[in-house]
Amino acid sequence: MIPTLEWTPAGVSFLDQTKLPLEETYVLATDYQQVATVIRDMIVRGAMAIGVSAAMGVALGIQSSTATDLPTLSAEVDVICATLAGTRPTAVNLFWGIAQVRDLYTQLAAANTPIPEIKQQVVVLANRLYDEDIANLHKLGAFGAELLPQEGTVLTHCNAGALAACGYGSALGVIRAAIEAGKNIDVFADETRPFNQGARLTAWELVKDNIPTTLICDNMAGYFMGQGRIKAAIVGADRIAANGDTANKIGTYSVAILCKEHGIPFYVAAPFNTIDLATPNGAAIPIEERSAREVTHVKGVQVTPDGVGIANPAFDVTPAKYITAIITEHGVLRAPYTDSIAAMAKQ
Ligand code: MRU
Repeated sequence: MIPTLEWTPAGVSFLDQTKLPLEETYVLATDYQQVATVIRDMIVRGAMAIGVSAAMGVALGIQSSTATDLPTLSAEVDVICATLAGTRPTAVNLFWGIAQVRDLYTQLAAANTPIPEIKQQVVVLANRLYDEDIANLHKLGAFGAELLPQEGTVLTHCNAGALAACGYGSALGVIRAAIEAGKNIDVFADETRPFNQGARLTAWELVKDNIPTTLICDNMAGYFMGQGRIKAAIVGADRIAANGDTANKIGTYSVAILCKEHGIPFYVAAPFNTIDLATPNGAAIPIEERSAREVTHVKGVQVTPDGVGIANPAFDVTPAKYITAIITEHGVLRAPYTDSIAAMAKQ
């Protein structure tokens, strides 16, 4: 299994995704501030991985506290949670992960639980979220596998794989499950400029799993759809609004429109904790703007002229009307999403 992140007695260990595919190295975060830096700098990235990393960050912060009374510890927990929440704005899983551990802390503190017992319980919870992430993605994969064609090429954008989660992946989990079920599927991976998650990460993990993969530049997807080469597209999500509008890596919206034009199904695969019922629609999803340097430089070499303006939104929103289905661990959602999401939330 690809060791994206792992709780260890010394801290949280992260596979450094900024170094892939050329180097397989690890970064050990020994305090919550380091976990925040690892998330902000995209050493770990991808919505599910960010969510569990944030939960582990809060647990690590509580575990390493020297507070001897609950009011002092509670004030520290506020700072820990605010620091982690300030790392990346778009993936709702980050806030979900923080809330999971914070809510447990609040309950335990309200019951005057001894601090050593609180420390133990928050670490247990963070590790349980890790295990549940993998289990949920296997369930999601099984639902999604039924939707993919028996054979042919499936397009994906960015990395919604094991590297974007604690293992297995969402979009790539569906592809893995379809292949495990005997389907004859190969993958076209968009390179996903400017951070190149497709070229560096999706290609790396699929090749490692011997899944036939062809890397294409982002601007080639329409050409291959026009040639009839793509049978379906599947992507992950960073935040799904209550009406089904979906934020995912920049460029996803263009893929969805291309799919519509060519009559190709466009699937979103995401665990239910990616659905944000408090966000009514895509317009309310905050979009992270990242450093201009990600666009102006390639591997430290400047590739643009001085003085040119740069825009670098990290995500875009695909309106629900372009989404054929949203695949979760509880089953497959179809339009009208406002109704199907609300019904699933009640289950
Ligand atoms: O900026 P990133 O690499 O964190 O963006 C990741 C994506 O957009 C993924 O497609 C998304 O998180 C879904 S997979 C968990």
